[in-house]
Amino acid sequence: MTKPLRKAVLPVAGLGTRFLPATKAIAKEMLPVVDKPLIQYAIEEARAAGIEQFCMVTGRGKTALVEHFDIAFELERTLQERNKTEALEALKATQVEPGSMVTVRQQVPLGLGHAIWCARAFIGDDPFAILLPDDLVLSQTPCLRQLADAYRDTGGNVVAVTEVPREHTNRYGILRIGKDDGRMVEVTGLVEKPAPQDAPSNLSIIGRYVLMPEVIGHLAKMERGAGNEVQLTDGMAKLIGNQPFHGLRYEGRRFDCGDKVGFLEAQIAFALKRPDLADAVRSFLKSYV
Ligand code: UTP
Repeated sequence: MTKPLRKAVLPVAGLGTRFLPATKAIAKEMLPVVDKPLIQYAIEEARAAGIEQFCMVTGRGKTALVEHFDIAFELERTLQERNKTEALEALKATQVEPGSMVTVRQQVPLGLGHAIWCARAFIGDDPFAILLPDDLVLSQTPCLRQLADAYRDTGGNVVAVTEVPREHTNRYGILRIGKDDGRMVEVTGLVEKPAPQDAPSNLSIIGRYVLMPEVIGHLAKMERGAGNEVQLTDGMAKLIGNQPFHGLRYEGRRFDCGDKVGFLEAQIAFALKRPDLADAVRSFLKSYV
């Protein structure tokens, strides 16, 4: 029997340098795709996978992320007085169960591995999910739900993976693979940002993970990896051989919203899925291309 998956860590302490100046005073994760900030997509996806407890790893200038999930009492009262029911409804999705969301601070952004280690007290001895809010996945079944289902079947660590062009392997965590049934792959090794000629495959990890708590012990050693950062990939690599470790080729399309082109593409793709916007968007797009 696998232990149920109830916790998720959302690292949001990065500097977001690729989006400056937009991210000078607001967090990258507060940037909206259509009308919802990236962080809200991540929380909704986590909820849909059965997650009940959330930990955001934050840094300086990230208070709006916490505010977003609080009750905006005055705003709600004003909307009620003005009978703005639709707007009130939109706010409902930003409410979380009292006490279900905590934050920890990563004072210095030393890398994703370090950010996850900062959540160690929250994680305790439980399996946990990680969602990187700047990766958005458009899919029939929410991506983390797919991972959670796979975790129930296999136990151990499960990460979402996708094929990337070989010349881009130096941007991602890349898998060395064993058995492969076309959907689930056995992970036999992990390398962070390998040069194309050194990459063991072109299967890359995206920002969705189900991990076992033992990864924290490896991250605690604070070994620096690619970019002189404490890399989550290096910590995960140490679990291989001791615990099951699988990659899941998820169903869906991923948008790297930490990158300008990926972010713009997500705006279009998500807007075209909206019945209230699709026609208008399709018609103005035609005038540009
Ligand atoms: P990125 O690699 O996208 O870095 O981090 P970034 O700082 O957010 O953006 P750029 O590259 O400067 O434009 C991936 C995820 O890991 C988190 C980020 O917040 C993002 O969700 N992260 C990264 C941390 O929480 N702490 C870190 O030290 C590094």
